[in-house]
Amino acid sequence: MVRLGFIGAGGMANHQAGQFSKIDGVQITACCDVSAERRAAFAQKFNVPAVYADYREMLAKEQLDGVTNVTPDAMHAEVSIAVLERRIPILCEKPMATTLDDARRMLDAADKAGVVNMINFSYRNSSGLQAAAEAVRAGLIGELRHVESSYLQSWLVSKGWGNWRESPGLLWRLSTKHGSAGDLGDIGVHIYDLTSFLCGDIVEIYCKLMTFDKGVPGNQIDEYVLDANDSFVSTVVFAGGAIGAIHSSRWAVGHSNSLRARVYGTAGAIEVDLDRAYDEYRICAGEENMKTFRWETVKCPPTPSNYERFIEGIRTGKQDPSSFANGVKIQAYLHYSFMSDRLGRPVRVDL
Ligand SMILES: NC(=O)c1ccc[n+]([C@@H]2O[C@H](COP(=O)([O-])OP(=O)(O)OC[C@H]3O[C@@H](n4cnc5c(N)ncnc54)[C@H](O)[C@@H]3O)[C@@H](O)[C@H]2O)c1
Repeated sequence: MVRLGFIGAGGMANHQAGQFSKIDGVQITACCDVSAERRAAFAQKFNVPAVYADYREMLAKEQLDGVTNVTPDAMHAEVSIAVLERRIPILCEKPMATTLDDARRMLDAADKAGVVNMINFSYRNSSGLQAAAEAVRAGLIGELRHVESSYLQSWLVSKGWGNWRESPGLLWRLSTKHGSAGDLGDIGVHIYDLTSFLCGDIVEIYCKLMTFDKGVPGNQIDEYVLDANDSFVSTVVFAGGAIGAIHSSRWAVGHSNSLRARVYGTAGAIEVDLDRAYDEYRICAGEENMKTFRWETVKCPPTPSNYERFIEGIRTGKQDPSSFANGVKIQAYLHYSFMSDRLGRPVRVDL
């Protein structure tokens, strides 16, 4: 039996708990939230016997085989380090931290603890993405030359997610004072992770961030100053020499939550389009297909989810590729994107 503890019992914790509950031999034995209402509702919904207001007390009193850190971004470092000091395997929500220094401190703590550590980049749950990454690594499309990838949402222009002007759950994402690193911090992390998972490390970034006028008098609603970026475009260079354009936006009309990457190599091209399907990728490779511009769809059998791989890691001690070390890389891409935007020029990524 794997005894799992939850720190944070909000929206994403509820989603995670639903996923963990489907895995045989896993029991959520403890949970913690500073909100009495949320921890009580979570404990009732998932039958959790031990409920805490203070995560340090939970860590001191409970025998846990793994902990998932589903607190807000600004709490990730403090909570994860406390868990790792007790040598408990950890799954931490994305983004890993709010600063590169904090992410590095978290990695140090993980290295010292020597236990399984993971960041929950959810799109790695796609078997199409997993298989496409393997195909790229196996050289099916040759050496990479050119990459384009995007993560598109439209909730600033459409009401598909509700009216952001009246939704605290969306308004905080527009305000740096409320801990938001904008579109780049929220969904940029996912597209940087997806793209580097497919194409390898990024060594140079030239990023432009934009914060557009939202037609709100004084650019403020209640305590929310609407100052966080809402669109970004990065030109990047990969360690393997390819160039890429990576972008995301909250202004992309017609898209609810669309991730897509197209990777072009010397012997073919691969496309992952998660709007189309999570369990397939498309490939154009081989002389005849390249000559006739013919793409084939490859259906991909299910691969273990992040949650299944975390539990497997706890059971076997095997470290997953979506580790804290990878999390530091993605945090570095954010850090150098902000720096590049500030300086108005390309910057080298220094891990
Ligand atoms: N992987 C994904 O695709 C994905 C999707 C959504 C959210 N997230 C991430 O998950 C995290 C949580 O987001 P959410 O949407 O669930 O937010 P949320 O506000 O619904 O939940 C966070 C919970 O943490 C609790 N909390 C705050 N400080 C705490 C502390 N010191 N100890 C214990 N509990 C504490 C809050 O009371 C709240 O209930 C964020 O980091 C977010 O970026 C990831």
